[in-house]
Amino acid sequence: MTGRLPMILDVDTGIDDSLAILYACASPEIELLAVTCVAGNVPAGRVADSTRSLLELAGRGDVPVALGAERPLVKPLETTEETHGPRGIGHAELPAPTRALAEQDAADLIIDAARRCPGAVQLVTLGPMTNLALALRREPRLPSLLRGWTFMGGAFRVPGNTTPTSEWNVYVDPDAAQVCLAAWASALTVDSAVPLPLGMGLDVTERARILPVDVTRLARRAGAADADADALTDAATRMHPRGTVRANPLLEFIVHALRFYFEFHARYDGFYGAFIHDPFVVAGAIDRVLVEVRPLFVDVEVGSGLAHGMTIADWRGITGHAPNVAVAVEGDAAAFLDRLIDRIGGLAGGR
Ligand code: BDR
Ligand code: CA
Repeated sequence: MTGRLPMILDVDTGIDDSLAILYACASPEIELLAVTCVAGNVPAGRVADSTRSLLELAGRGDVPVALGAERPLVKPLETTEETHGPRGIGHAELPAPTRALAEQDAADLIIDAARRCPGAVQLVTLGPMTNLALALRREPRLPSLLRGWTFMGGAFRVPGNTTPTSEWNVYVDPDAAQVCLAAWASALTVDSAVPLPLGMGLDVTERARILPVDVTRLARRAGAADADADALTDAATRMHPRGTVRANPLLEFIVHALRFYFEFHARYDGFYGAFIHDPFVVAGAIDRVLVEVRPLFVDVEVGSGLAHGMTIADWRGITGHAPNVAVAVEGDAAAFLDRLIDRIGGLAGGR
């Protein structure tokens, strides 16, 4: 251990997962121990390929990548290539990974890391919570063994983005989300020192939007020539990055991945830009100053019907259950976006 915060990211890469991985790679406060993969935005095998290739492109081919669950605990897998592109990375293309996957599966890797350094490892889940649910089945003491768990998931006081009531990560595997939240609830009854998981749902993550003008800022930060960076703001020239942008493969990846995400949000969310949920969650896990939380009891509706996959928070303490999640209710999206541009732009500039 290095004095930095040891972190494991669990991802379903995913355009915003890609940015989250890059944000983690660019953050001096953390030691990225491993990235574990789960089926969600695209099938798990594709997640594992893109994740390894992206880490290699970012100069972090040393970070172990483990394959995890290929399907949710109970329901059949649904994926969303429409949102993230056929390979999960939008219009971007990456060379095939050169390094093998970790020998352990995702759940075992998480358990081993937590057991090796009890109270040290921060787990951040950015996809369906299937891997963590499987790990909890094998090691029920995980809530006490981890330093903490931060998740992207849920829509607490806002509409869902997948059904009117459900956010994507929870919708894909509501049973896993329920298992994880219940595990923390029960661990907290035994040991009140167990930290509440930080839950960042759409309430705050949809405040973090990236626009073409921000991609221009990021390109400048990466050292692209002003004219080449400015061309990224222009609809006519954005598709074919110029000179100093094209010469930087990591920057070019970001531009082409985000272009797909922008087109999706223009179709469904009414703006040409994108919500960047997952990197905001990594940023919140690293620096809690970025979010304001309310401790609440949270459960998930797993039955069929309109509320399937809904995260239900007990805002008024009606159930009498003790809080099991620190639900993010405010988030400093502007400060986060500045950090993202500075960090990922700096990382791309150093490649
Ligand atoms: C979440 O769903 C996925 O599509 C994104 O990667 C993010 O983790 C937002 O609802
Ligand atoms: Ca994700």
